[in-house]
Amino acid sequence: MAKLPDHVGIDFGTHTVKAVELRNILTSTPELVNLGSQLTPKGVINSEERQDQKKLGVALKMLFDTAKIRNRNVVMALPEFSVFTRFLEFPGVKKEELGEAVFFEAKQYVPMAIEDVQMSYVTIGFNEEKNAPRVLLVAAPKKIIEIYMNVANFADLDLIAIETESVAMGRAMLKSMGKRSVVMLDFGANSTDMSIMADGYLVFSQSISIGSDSLTQSIINKFNFDYNRAEEFKRNYGLIPNVLEGKIFSSLTPIMDSIMLEVRRGVEFYKNKTLSASPNEYLLNGDGALLPGITEYVSKSLGVNAQIANPWLNISIDNKFKDLVAKGGPSYSVAIGLGLKDE
Ligand SMILES: Nc1ncnc2c1ncn2[C@@H]1O[C@H](COP(=O)(O)OP(=O)(O)OP(=O)(O)O)[C@@H](O)[C@H]1O
Ligand SMILES: [Mg+2]
Repeated sequence: MAKLPDHVGIDFGTHTVKAVELRNILTSTPELVNLGSQLTPKGVINSEERQDQKKLGVALKMLFDTAKIRNRNVVMALPEFSVFTRFLEFPGVKKEELGEAVFFEAKQYVPMAIEDVQMSYVTIGFNEEKNAPRVLLVAAPKKIIEIYMNVANFADLDLIAIETESVAMGRAMLKSMGKRSVVMLDFGANSTDMSIMADGYLVFSQSISIGSDSLTQSIINKFNFDYNRAEEFKRNYGLIPNVLEGKIFSSLTPIMDSIMLEVRRGVEFYKNKTLSASPNEYLLNGDGALLPGITEYVSKSLGVNAQIANPWLNISIDNKFKDLVAKGGPSYSVAIGLGLKDE
C-alpha cells in the first residue's frame, strides 16, 4: 500500500499551473481520476508577498473548481530554479553515519546559509570501486517552502508532501515510458530544466534560465510583431528550417544554441563528477517541447537521440479526458510524477 493517501499532484510553472489526480498508483496501470491546468497570474511564482500568494491560491482554487477536482490532499513541486541539488559520494562512510556526513558536507556546497534551507537527501546506489554510498542532496530555502504552504492554505488544500520538479519528472518517465537512463529536458516559459537519470535514480539537475518565452521575444524583436502574432509564428513554424525562407528558424536558433550550450556543459559536469557516461537518450518535456522541429534540432545539435516524452503511457485514461491529454502531451510530466509519488 502506498504510504501517502490518494492525492493531487500540482506543478507550478511561470506560465501554467497543472494538476493531475491518479489512483491505484502502485499497479502497472494507474488510473487518471482528473486533470486540469490554469494560466499562472503574472509575477506571483515564488513571491514572498502574501498578496501574490493569495492570487496564486485563488488561481489554484479556480483550477480545482473548473476541473471539478474534489480531493484536497495535494503534493507540490518546487520550481527547479529555486532548489539546489548536488550529487555526492561518501567513500568509506557507513549507512548509519550517512545522514550526519551528508549534512556536514552540505555546508560547503549549498550556496545559502545552512539555517535558511531545509535539507534532504536520497540515496542513489553505491560506488563499489570507491566503497562509497551515493546520494542526491536537495536543499530548498525554507522561505520558498513557506510560500507554498501559504498558497495551499489560501486554496483550502492540504499540502501533504513537497519535492522538486526533476525528481517528479524522473518518476513519471520511469513509470510511463519505462526509461531508467535518460537525460530529461523540460522546456518551460522562463527556464529550461535539465536532469539526468541513471539506473532509475536522479543523479543530476540544473535549471537553465532561458526558456520558450525567449523564443517568442526573439521573433518580436526581429519582425516587430505583437506578442500574439509572434507566439503564433513560433508555434506554427518553430525550428522548421525551410519555411518563410528560414527567417523564423534563424531568429530562434541563437536562443536554442545558448540552451544547448548549457546542456552540454551540464553533461560535461556530470561526466567529470561521476566518471560515467551520460545517457544518449533525451526526453523532451514541457509545453515548449511542442515547438515544431525541436526533436530534430536537439538530436542534431547534441548528437543524441531525442524524442518527445509521453508521460501518459501506461496510464488508464477515460474517453472524456482523451482530448485534454492529446493536447497537452508532454506538459503534464511533473504533475503526473507528483501524482505517482507513493511515499
Ligand atoms: N504548441 C507550442 N509550440 C511551441 N511552444 C509552445 C506551444 N505551446 C506552448 N508553448 C510555449 O511553452 C511555454 C510554456 O510551457 P510550460 O507550460 O511547460 O511552462 P511553465 O512550466 O509554466 O514554465 P516554467 O517551467 O518556465 O516555470 C511558453 O513559452 C509557450 O509559449
Ligand atoms: Mg514547468
